[in-house]
Amino acid sequence: MQLPSKKDIFKIILIGLLFIVIALSHHFFKGHEHIFFLFFFYLPMILSGFWFGLKGSIVACIIMLFLYMPHLISNISWNNFSQKDLDEILEVLMSITIAVLLGILIDREREYNRQLLEQQRLAAIGKTVSEIAHDMKTPLMSIGGFVTQVARKIPEDDPAKKKLDIVIEEVSRLEKMVRNMLEFSKSININKSEVNINRLIEVINESIQEIANRSKVRIILNLSPELSNIMADEEKLKRALLNVITNAIQASPTDDSVVISTEKRKGNVVIKIKDHGPGIRDDQKELIFKTFFTTKEEGTGLGLAISKKIIEAHGGKISFYPNNGEPGTTFVIELPIK
Ligand SMILES: Nc1ncnc2c1ncn2[C@@H]1O[C@H](COP(=O)(O)OP(=O)(O)O)[C@@H](O)[C@H]1O
Ligand SMILES: [Mg+2]
Repeated sequence: MQLPSKKDIFKIILIGLLFIVIALSHHFFKGHEHIFFLFFFYLPMILSGFWFGLKGSIVACIIMLFLYMPHLISNISWNNFSQKDLDEILEVLMSITIAVLLGILIDREREYNRQLLEQQRLAAIGKTVSEIAHDMKTPLMSIGGFVTQVARKIPEDDPAKKKLDIVIEEVSRLEKMVRNMLEFSKSININKSEVNINRLIEVINESIQEIANRSKVRIILNLSPELSNIMADEEKLKRALLNVITNAIQASPTDDSVVISTEKRKGNVVIKIKDHGPGIRDDQKELIFKTFFTTKEEGTGLGLAISKKIIEAHGGKISFYPNNGEPGTTFVIELPIK
């Protein structure tokens, strides 16, 4: 949980003081509830909503009700209910409504601003990335091509051969990175056709065997026979799933397993990818879908960002949760059937 900042503590103290003033004023000036008290009555609730959103206004409403209830009960003559009594109750209801509405508006405004900033951030990153990747692509391809030609001419037992092989390997890693960067920065076009997700997962499973074997990780498929075909871009979806499954393999301890399962849920096909790795730390939960966030020495931090972009372009959702009662994470991909 995030601790409140110094500024927030000051605001909470100020709101608390205002509540105390209200409580005291009702205590000392019984029967003098005119406009001045009304102002004090509204102020902490409005400030709570304004500073802390809906959560703040709800807490303030509860405190206010708690403080005001004794006064309300003792002041209102329930047997002889008058216009003044009704006004007093309505006043309380009105202040609660205003505080809650303000809280909702403030939350909505903040969410809107956050999304706007995120879009601007992504657009700026996308532009920079595509420019860099574009400039890097051609020289990298020439380096890769020339080094491979030179390496072919060098005898296997030459010590330089080993070094050249490392160069080839590293260049191909850089090329992959550049491809990812270009892919991320492009706006994606989805070309939909009918896709059998179970079949796609079987194909991915075959293509990923080498990586899995290298990490000594077993892939277990648990595919529902009741799955409907969906309308999707098969190639893009393959990329998205590959990224998530590769992460699961990379996170897995050796001799462990990654379970890929499918199921039909309402109008969606749900794909779950479960590993028994170290899990995702609380402070990294917000970051893993962000571009360039990686905890791996050789990571690009683009895999999940690309997967999310592809899945959302299909009207789907990607999320994750820690496994229940055992270590590891399960990623959940939901895709609409139509
Ligand atoms: N299954 C997982 N278990 C634990 N951490 C994960 C898992 N999947 C992703 N992550 C975390 O999310 C980060 C970002 O993943 P990704 O975008 O694929 O980039 P990369 O794989 O290049 O690091 C990873 O570096 C890792 O810290
Ligand atoms: Mg990855």
